[in-house]
Amino acid sequence: MGRDRTKARGPPPMSFPPSRSMLLREVQDNMTEAVDERVKRYILDGTDQDLRRLLSISQESAEMARTVLRRVGVQEGWSAIDCGCGPLGGLAVIAEMVGPSGRVVGVDFSEPTVQKARSVASTLGLSNVEVVQGDINDVDPATLGGPFDLAYSRLFMMHQQDPVGTLRKIAALLRPGGWLVAQETLRTPPPRSHPDVEALGVYWDLAHRVMERVGVPYGAVEDLPRSAREAGFEIVGMSGQFWVMDPALGFDLHASTMAAARDRATQSGVASEQEVDELVGTLRAAGGGEYGWVASPFFLDLLLRKPLTA
Ligand SMILES: C[S@@+](CC[C@H](N)C(=O)[O-])C[C@H]1O[C@@H](n2cnc3c(N)ncnc32)[C@H](O)[C@@H]1O
Repeated sequence: MGRDRTKARGPPPMSFPPSRSMLLREVQDNMTEAVDERVKRYILDGTDQDLRRLLSISQESAEMARTVLRRVGVQEGWSAIDCGCGPLGGLAVIAEMVGPSGRVVGVDFSEPTVQKARSVASTLGLSNVEVVQGDINDVDPATLGGPFDLAYSRLFMMHQQDPVGTLRKIAALLRPGGWLVAQETLRTPPPRSHPDVEALGVYWDLAHRVMERVGVPYGAVEDLPRSAREAGFEIVGMSGQFWVMDPALGFDLHASTMAAARDRATQSGVASEQEVDELVGTLRAAGGGEYGWVASPFFLDLLLRKPLTA
């Protein structure tokens, strides 16, 4: 919403015959537009708050995912796995990139989330996508139809208690030379707005303390490159991205993320119900205030490759 997508769309001016890859990119961009529109409609029609939040995040971060996936040269016909796919995650973007001859398996350990993901994939007409319930730390590569050419993780590694162990499991799902693309959010700095509002930093810290209380190591994402090497991956690329949003949408997404963690925050003793509710209220109210923009969290992008030889 906050970004001008029209600039990224449409074919570039061509003064020479387009190559196959340019034509393929054009076809992908047109497909992208169609799926994007269907996701938007789904979000607008939805009544489930948390589903809308996660679909909005997928929609807002779709271009960010495409940018990194293009860097690994995802090809038509590839098989891919989206680790902790949520109700959509990277499924639509990867499904477009691998095309009808490719295959995408979304894995999530939450049964209600898997049901939602199946319903979303079917509504969006993603015929090359299947969604399986399972814990990435336990799944058997053979039952998922692996080994895969590509694994994708977004907002997933930040929930794992043993990052090296989980990365080893993901490596076991890949063929030699297969890729893991990870897009995970840094603990610091927190997302910010202009002018900046303290509640963004408070909620971001609180959400991380909830995860740390259940055993996620402090700074797990900051440490991912080291964990990835320890798990046997080669680091092919490291970069970072964030995007900015219209304040109404951006503050609503951050408020909804805090609201989604309410039960876990109170049950773990990290905050009282009143504290969480006040924070959610402050973030929501900021959406109607005098702000120029709100940033997404800051994402660390990692391009990791399983070595060709063990
Ligand atoms: C914050 S959501 C992110 C969803 C999605 N990747 C996206 O970018 O929108 C994290 C998801 O990972 C799932 N999850 C967390 N740990 C998991 C594990 N070990 N195995 C499978 N799913 C997991 C959760 O159920 C949840 O749906």
